[in-house]
Amino acid sequence: MYEPSSQTDKPTVLVVGGTSGINRGIALGFARSGARVAVASRSWEKVAQTVDELRALGAEAEGFSADVRDAEAVRDGVVRLCGHWGPLDVVISGAAGNFPALASGMSANGFRSVVEIDLLGSFHVLQAVYPQLRRPGASVIQISAPQASLPMIGQSHVCAAKAGVDMLTRTLAQEWGPEGIRVNSVIPGPIEHTEGMARLAPDESLREKIAQSVPLRRLGQAEDIFRACRFLASKDADFITGAVLPVDGGWSLAGASRVGDALAESLGL
Ligand code: NAP
Ligand code: COA
Repeated sequence: MYEPSSQTDKPTVLVVGGTSGINRGIALGFARSGARVAVASRSWEKVAQTVDELRALGAEAEGFSADVRDAEAVRDGVVRLCGHWGPLDVVISGAAGNFPALASGMSANGFRSVVEIDLLGSFHVLQAVYPQLRRPGASVIQISAPQASLPMIGQSHVCAAKAGVDMLTRTLAQEWGPEGIRVNSVIPGPIEHTEGMARLAPDESLREKIAQSVPLRRLGQAEDIFRACRFLASKDADFITGAVLPVDGGWSLAGASRVGDALAESLGL
């Protein structure tokens, strides 16, 4: 059972980008653990569908639509949510965009789009939730990526953005630590049945090859990432802040060139 690090009976969790893939898995996991869960993303249809799924699990659930690139829309959504539910115990910041493209051919707008969603968007989310976090005891978890520390061909925009995301984690852990707010990053490895994998390893044989390059010899599941988030949000992790935790079956241990080469091969680059 999820043990909240704050004093509330029922922790309040907001998952930004929580309407598909890994983040949706995190939202569903917290709902099954007894939390009340809100999700946010651009598409109102995806928000409404996810809220219905969360409620079908018996959870109290809410949601709002906002593009994380729009600071005001994010702040409005958070203020409305907290006006209704009160302070937040756990915030997952996981909205992201990705496409494979070599830097030499990528438009400046393509690079900007990813940096604005992943990095500036995370800043908007963290700044919007800061006044609404329960003190002490609140926990913020950013969903980063191996690209944050491993250079990968075709991923210059994501590498630059996610490196920034992890530095935001470390910096805000220092700034907010004295108030009892913890900030950590989780680095998922290659996760099965996700948009991210579909974009970077579009066919089954490539995905199998990637699975075989993982020391634990399998692709990850959204549930693996949820369990790491549940731990980081729990009282068991109450002395952990500013950490960047790989949850990847050991995939990133191979280092930049091996992981980068595998990706380049999968992209035919
Ligand atoms: P996904 O299914 O595409 O999920 C992305 C989520 O973010 C969706 O809910 C999407 O909903 C939302 N989103 C995208 N752009 C947004 C924006 N501008 N404003 C607000 N919300 C936005 O992706 P995923 O593959 O599961 O990846 C989820 C996270 O895990 C990302 O942070 C990614 O970098 C990280 N990650 C993934 C993998 C992997 O194997 N898949 C590996 C390492 C790290 P809307 O379309 O409604 O906006
Ligand atoms: N290769 C090269 N450039 C690309 C591209 C690709 N596959 N896909 C998009 N771009 C460029 C576009 O050409 C555009 O640049 P331009 O104006 O110079 O032509 C720029 O990126 C923005 O594209 P647009 O479609 O207008 O952006 P958007 O804000 O609607 O969407 C994306 C953002 C591009 C990141 C989109 O893929 C997205 O919404 N992704 C969310 C889901 C996702 O990526 N999931 C995986 C997470 S790991």
